[in-house]
Amino acid sequence: MINRRKFIKGAFFTTGALWAASRVKGASISGANPQLPLVISTWAPNVKANAAAWEILSKGGKALDAVEKGVMVPEADPEDTSVGYGGLPDRDGRVTLDACIMDEQGNCGSVMCLEHIMHPISVARQVMEKTPHVVLVGDGALQFALANGFKKENLLTANAEKIWKEWLKESKYDPMDTIKHMKTKRGAGTKDNHDTIGMLAIDKSGNISGACTTSGMAFKMHGRVGDSPIIGAGLYVDNEVGAATATGVGEEVIRICGAHTVVEAMRYGKSPKEACKLAVERMNKLRKNKLEDKQIGFIAVSITGEIGAYALREGFTYTYRLGDGVDVIKSADFLI
Ligand code: GLY
Repeated sequence: MINRRKFIKGAFFTTGALWAASRVKGASISGANPQLPLVISTWAPNVKANAAAWEILSKGGKALDAVEKGVMVPEADPEDTSVGYGGLPDRDGRVTLDACIMDEQGNCGSVMCLEHIMHPISVARQVMEKTPHVVLVGDGALQFALANGFKKENLLTANAEKIWKEWLKESKYDPMDTIKHMKTKRGAGTKDNHDTIGMLAIDKSGNISGACTTSGMAFKMHGRVGDSPIIGAGLYVDNEVGAATATGVGEEVIRICGAHTVVEAMRYGKSPKEACKLAVERMNKLRKNKLEDKQIGFIAVSITGEIGAYALREGFTYTYRLGDGVDVIKSADFLI
């Protein structure tokens, strides 16, 4: 249950430093770090998702279980038009979902362009645990889900259908204009301006896992896949270093292997925030003037429990809970 909240605009912190200094690289963690357990998600409304993850983390549960349970909250929320049930459909009116999950051992699973299944993150986890593969797509992913007990459901809510039908009147194929799409969603009753959920957690044993799930870009071409289910783009976890996840225009994140770039920058000494900033700057340099109207945000956590975030432009929020169990919501610093 959410009891206390803090909102800090643009702030950034580094704690757990003493604990971090005493940690021998690669050694197992005793759980003495006051930062742990820890969960962080993209976008302020995902305090609810963090609360679900916290149920597991606070009882000494595994980060992998926590991130799965956490992101299932927006997946099942019909008012969240960017993730799972209630997500805005593609240009053909089909709700197609992308999700991936990764644990502290480098195990990972992903589904892309999956239809009719409420919890793509759980299918991704089963791809990881029950198959020799990492990714299943489209009909193959659906077939696998149904064979493993998932129920086939209609994920297109009346609200999402209404917004899609409005869009159909003009049928302006402008999938890159994410800011405009966010405004459309917000105008349709979504309380907050937000997008894909990426969630990272470190459990009391010091193990990191991550999950990322989305309905992707509204009114996309059928079959379009963004960064969210791509290991290394939308999500990356390395238990020796930390983890990162992304939100925003997936095409731009894929181009720079976003989450992996952030983790590698941390490996070579950048703080989580500096690493997120480096990735955004690299994207901006690569794409020069082609990022108008687009938003991209990264969040990252180091294995020591340090948190950071950075966005291309103003408006990206993130939320976390750590050792003290207090919900914190922040606005990320931004480049342009
Ligand atoms: N980041 C979500 C997407 O581009 O699909």
